[in-house]
Amino acid sequence: MYEAGLSANQVAAFRREGMLCLPDFLAPEEVLALVNESKRLLSDFDISSHPMTQFKVDENDHIGDQYFFDSSDKILFFFDTDAFDESGALKYPKEQAINKIGHGLHMKNQVFQKITMDQKVVNVAKSLGYKAARVLQSMCIFKHPVGATNDERENAVPPHTDATFLFTEPQTAVGFWYALEDCTLENGCLWYNPGSQNVFPLTKRFVKVNGGKDGCAMIPLEHNAENVPEDKPKDYVPVECKAGSLILIHNSVLHKSDKNRSHKSRFAYAFHVIDGTSKFDELNWLQVPVSGGCDFTKLYE
Ligand code: FE2
Repeated sequence: MYEAGLSANQVAAFRREGMLCLPDFLAPEEVLALVNESKRLLSDFDISSHPMTQFKVDENDHIGDQYFFDSSDKILFFFDTDAFDESGALKYPKEQAINKIGHGLHMKNQVFQKITMDQKVVNVAKSLGYKAARVLQSMCIFKHPVGATNDERENAVPPHTDATFLFTEPQTAVGFWYALEDCTLENGCLWYNPGSQNVFPLTKRFVKVNGGKDGCAMIPLEHNAENVPEDKPKDYVPVECKAGSLILIHNSVLHKSDKNRSHKSRFAYAFHVIDGTSKFDELNWLQVPVSGGCDFTKLYE
């Protein structure tokens, strides 16, 4: 179905809206393979040697330790922020305590690599005008269901733009976000602010501090701070979709997701594509190799 890439209308819709949902991008057997591999990674993962790193995006905190930086080309595990009790003990089975697995699945896992480097992805990237498409930051993203006692999990993602985290000049990052399970209003589907990528300037960046020795921090981009419109919750629209859908996310579109308030999980797989002809900023948290660089996986030249 997507062998020919995107139509001119689809490309225009993506540029206008900032997000585009492509139903049935993955065949059912591809979805099953990714779900099963995600579950295998969760169950095989050895908790005994883990530094118990959580996935946090907190504006006021310096976050990002060596385990986080090291994940750029590995398969590492990040816990939910509510995974532990005050004593530091896990509150949930480990399979329901992980927020993300990343960020080198496309490099180190054959099942994810095959889907990521698929000809359909090449065709979509070509439709979007990439001259030298590069893949980075692949991850499984989990929104686990409410607990057995109906306790709500802390798995909402606040409004953000991806260029905040993957800064290139010019901005070329596009998120490829695959629904591995049906995404609904109840289990935390994506929401976005249509057209915001053309209206809201980038006002902050998530950067390494002191070469990463002091983690990462959000820094304001003051030259962009004037005439920023108000980001209103009522401007967001949900993207409910079936398992197998691919959602393309513009680097500058505002998007978010709610908590999973249901008893069904919401598994997703995502990676980013950038153009190798753009300048990948050395202050970005993700570097390949980890010591610093942009030796990213070539989708095509
Ligand atoms: Fe995002």
